[in-house]
Amino acid sequence: MRRSLLLAPLALALSLAACHKGGGAEAAAAPAPSGPRMPAGVTPALIATGDSIFHSGGCQRCHGQKGVGGQNGPSLVAGPWLHSTGKYEEIVQTITTGVPRTALKDQNRRFPMNGRGGQMNLNDDQVKAVAAYVWSISRDKH
Ligand code: HEC
Repeated sequence: MRRSLLLAPLALALSLAACHKGGGAEAAAAPAPSGPRMPAGVTPALIATGDSIFHSGGCQRCHGQKGVGGQNGPSLVAGPWLHSTGKYEEIVQTITTGVPRTALKDQNRRFPMNGRGGQMNLNDDQVKAVAAYVWSISRDKH
């Protein structure tokens, strides 16, 4: 008890120092950020377009409303990334190619994921839009 009381101020001082250092470096690299930084080419309008594509049937059917995950598709909002590190370009790639059965991380899934939304047959612009939406909902994934 006594020991932890003595150590507490030290730990606090150390974490404050670390914080200060990190904040300074970040501020220098990215001046005046106003909200989450979007990847090149991604705009709020593109995300909105992707939202309606996602919820028009194809993606939502497996990944659930707002991508929270469902019986036939993993969550796109939480948990670890399965097929990339979660960069926008990588999400575009995954949606373009799909996930063939042999590449499924969970081999118990009933279906693989077809490229370009399968029957939706999304063109490049639509893939980019729906990937922008997935990017926007997946910032807490790791
Ligand atoms: C038939 C069900 C199904 C449909 C429809 C579907 N997916 Fe998937 N999706 C999956 C499965 C299954 C995986 C891979 C899970 C695994 O590896 O175990 C996956 C993986 C993904 C990943 C990679 C996630 C990661 O962790 O790396 C993204 C991104 C994704 N889907 C987006 C979409 C989008 C956008 C659409 C609509 C255009 C869509 N999916 C349609 C089933 C589906």
